[in-house]
Amino acid sequence: MTMKTPYIIAANWKMNKTNVECKIFVDKFKKLLLNIPRSKVIFCPPFTLLYYMKTLLADTPFECGAQNMYWEDHGAFTGEISADMISACGAQYVIIGHSERRQLFGDTDEFINQRISKALLKGLTPIICIGETLEQRNSGQTVHVLQTQLQQGLNEIKSDDISQMIFAYEPVWAIGTGVRAEPYMIQEAHESVRNVLDNMGVANVGVIPILYGGSVKSNNVKKLLEINDVNGFLIGGASLDVDELISIIRQTELKEKE
Ligand code: PGA
Repeated sequence: MTMKTPYIIAANWKMNKTNVECKIFVDKFKKLLLNIPRSKVIFCPPFTLLYYMKTLLADTPFECGAQNMYWEDHGAFTGEISADMISACGAQYVIIGHSERRQLFGDTDEFINQRISKALLKGLTPIICIGETLEQRNSGQTVHVLQTQLQQGLNEIKSDDISQMIFAYEPVWAIGTGVRAEPYMIQEAHESVRNVLDNMGVANVGVIPILYGGSVKSNNVKKLLEINDVNGFLIGGASLDVDELISIIRQTELKEKE
């Protein structure tokens, strides 16, 4: 590890679970797993569960984040959610620029930049997702894509603020496909992210958390934990199953004890 701070495990529930399903999950999660002093766990449920989940987790160290946000404060923006609304639910984090938002809902680096600025202004910690498509990887553009997404997404953001964020490298072709990236690919990508941030004048890039996301499961996390520059995981599918998520967290805790 390049850093001594805890591993971060962010559970991205995407468009899954009702309040009833959420309660069943949290009850079991709390019963089985309260004592994990070395890892930071952040649940990112749908907006409809944010307040409820934060309430259910009130007596635990587990945090909550939203999966997206709009950059305006309020007004006639049907279907959107503001940073203040997210904070008012007790959430401290917000995922910004997830590839599903980019690919299915037209999120651009410029929009992402506006979301990031507002999240910071409102005291939320952005979890910025970046990653290449298979086509981009196969044509040797991975580093260039990451660089562009970072430079445009972080345009005019203060370097002090950048050093407080969380980044997630999520190769698009590995998300929800069961095909995770090879360790050397992940290491290369995470190094590239640190280089780009360093070139942007961000201090202490070695301690900025960079998560890996894309088909992380209990049966492959051990291998992923060996990768030097990985500081945690953004987990989709596997985070919906309480036993699967707990197994991933337990393996991460064991790694930290080494
Ligand atoms: P996955 O999703 O773990 O289901 O591949 C990861 C993500 O999209 O954050």
